[in-house]
Amino acid sequence: MSSVYRRLPRPFIAMAPMKGITDTVFRRMLCEIAKPDLLYTEFAWAEGLCSPKPTRFKQQLEFHTTEHPIVAQLWGRSPAAFERAAAFACRLGFDGIDINMGCAVRKILKRGTGAGLIATPKAAAEIIAAVRSGAPDLPVSVKTRLGMNEVSVEHWCGFLLEQRLDALCVHARTAAQGYGGSADWNAINAVIALRNRISPDTVVIGNGDLSSTDHALSLHARHPVDGFMIGRAVLLDPYVLQRRDSAVRRDRASAHAVSPARCISLFREHVALHRRIWGKRRHAGVLKRFVAVYLAGIPEYTQLRRRLLRSETHAEMLAVLSTAAAKARQDRPAHADLRMHETNSPLESQSFHVLEPSHKEKTDECRVG
Ligand SMILES: Cc1cc2nc3c(=O)[nH]c(=O)nc-3n(C[C@H](O)[C@H](O)[C@H](O)COP(=O)(O)O)c2cc1C
Repeated sequence: MSSVYRRLPRPFIAMAPMKGITDTVFRRMLCEIAKPDLLYTEFAWAEGLCSPKPTRFKQQLEFHTTEHPIVAQLWGRSPAAFERAAAFACRLGFDGIDINMGCAVRKILKRGTGAGLIATPKAAAEIIAAVRSGAPDLPVSVKTRLGMNEVSVEHWCGFLLEQRLDALCVHARTAAQGYGGSADWNAINAVIALRNRISPDTVVIGNGDLSSTDHALSLHARHPVDGFMIGRAVLLDPYVLQRRDSAVRRDRASAHAVSPARCISLFREHVALHRRIWGKRRHAGVLKRFVAVYLAGIPEYTQLRRRLLRSETHAEMLAVLSTAAAKARQDRPAHADLRMHETNSPLESQSFHVLEPSHKEKTDECRVG
């Protein structure tokens, strides 16, 4: 079976795994808005999946066939649990399995999991072997950082490349950096050089501080990765994954703003999908993190946000959004209607978000993981 990584375009764009954010609902919305070439699940705890009460952890691996190609991401410490979890993910029909060796959240590090594995290469190798044994037909990748306290491309990334992974994704910061400073893309070039020497068949994916697909593609000449992974930028604007035709953009830049009515209707769709898929299994309160993602920047955002943050159920949120949508449709200027006529479906629109939400506002509402 040919690895999914071989079938992807070069360079490809992957949506980063983000716990509490990139569940099947948000991924499906992204597929409608601007489907990336590759999706990842939020990370799922290998030991939890093997526990007597695996339900909560299995939820993190729910996906829909429209999300292919999609990779299941696992975290944990026990090779035996990884082996069983990988076999489970394989039965679910994933296109690959990724092992998290990059999460630098204190709780995860303290268990020796996530980026904690950087300190214990032997344990990391055992986990990779266990995943291969559990899912022998699936490509196996690792998502990691440049090192623990210091950049350690030769030592750590070199070690991972010796494991002949199908793909290696590197968030270009050390674990100690968390999200501080900026991503070191020159270090990604060092990873590529090492890959060429040690394991030419391993696909290298660069990650860190990419603001859009266009931004990623503009870096490719200088940083020739096989794929780029984009994370937080999507929380500022779900349209950033869209590949834009630069000629079209130059000529029609002013006509591309997504109308407030469209933003509200997208969020309404997200809430409705969340209710349909998760029902009572996930509390509607988690949707509050997406208020700014879809709506920041539209007129009357502050009042709308206040009403949504007071809502406790899907039904309450949907009611608030329906009222707001009706009002936004009334207020819509004539050119917005014109733009709607240009496309078959609102979600197939070539238009992109030009809203400018405050970064702080967004991160405040996305405090997860
Ligand atoms: C809210 C949030 C949740 C995250 N959850 C995960 C996760 O489950 N697995 C993982 O490997 N990385 C996770 N990350 C890290 C991202 O995948 C990505 O590596 C990081 O944000 C850097 O990329 P960016 O600068 O494009 O955001 C998370 C990041 C954020 C902000």
